[in-house]
Amino acid sequence: MSSKPTPSSLGTKPGSPVLEVRGLTVDYAGNRALDMNSFILAEGELAGVVGANGAGKSTFVNGLLGWSRGTPRINGKVFLNGHAISSLSTHERVRQGLLLVPESDLVFATMTVEENLAHCTDQRHSGDRRIYSIQEIYELFPNLAERRRHLGGQLSGGERQMLGIARALRLAPRVLLLDEPSIGLAPRLVSVVLETVRKLVDQGLSVLLVEQNVKAAIRVVDRLVLLDRGHVVASGTADEMRDDPRLAEAYLGAGA
Ligand SMILES: Nc1ncnc2c1ncn2[C@@H]1O[C@H](COP(=O)(O)OP(=O)(O)OP(=O)(O)O)[C@@H](O)[C@H]1O
Ligand SMILES: [Mg+2]
Repeated sequence: MSSKPTPSSLGTKPGSPVLEVRGLTVDYAGNRALDMNSFILAEGELAGVVGANGAGKSTFVNGLLGWSRGTPRINGKVFLNGHAISSLSTHERVRQGLLLVPESDLVFATMTVEENLAHCTDQRHSGDRRIYSIQEIYELFPNLAERRRHLGGQLSGGERQMLGIARALRLAPRVLLLDEPSIGLAPRLVSVVLETVRKLVDQGLSVLLVEQNVKAAIRVVDRLVLLDRGHVVASGTADEMRDDPRLAEAYLGAGA
């Protein structure tokens, strides 16, 4: 089953839609945690999703994969590269290139960095999608190159985040979903991680970045969506959103 998505009011970039959401809702025991009418990620775009604790950010990215920690009811349509994926299993969506690096990323603690990177590639299903080589990953993340013989469990928080993103790159993402990659990192490392994400997007990758660190996110994203209690309450380009009072008051502080 496949159908071509049409642009919606939230799609602002000229690239064709690589990820589209129509009427996505997630309910936990009758409580609606997400009610997303429409969302588009264009090819080669970096879109940010921000909001307070409990706003529904993780519910959104998990819902795209049809996954959750609990037993939610997920409804609505998700299209990846023009194909409806809402009826596919999470595993199948991952195989199609919808890759999530979750809040607390899973790296193999007892494998070295290099083993982590070598272990996770399954090239059989990548089709036209790019698989980053280990060498390319070391160029993007020099810290990982230095630590290639260290165990996953010995890495710092920032290095683990980088390894989590790097592992996803080895699986040939069509769209990369990052759930708060800056969490727990020192400010300098936040910039390093987010600027590397920007570099990946400039090389053609499409990324949906969930962040609570709005100040850091707005420096790198093309477009920002503000979630509040499961609803999109504001969205626009990074420049438009910087001046949006709903964002400025709550997250950026006066004069930001
Ligand atoms: N497994 C679950 N069972 C029941 N309710 C849940 C479950 N997971 C999330 N929720 C609820 O859904 C809402 C959205 O949670 P979610 O984890 O998506 O927020 P978030 O924006 O990612 O927050 P944070 O910034 O703290 O990660 C919250 O009210 C939360 O309590
Ligand atoms: Mg979350």
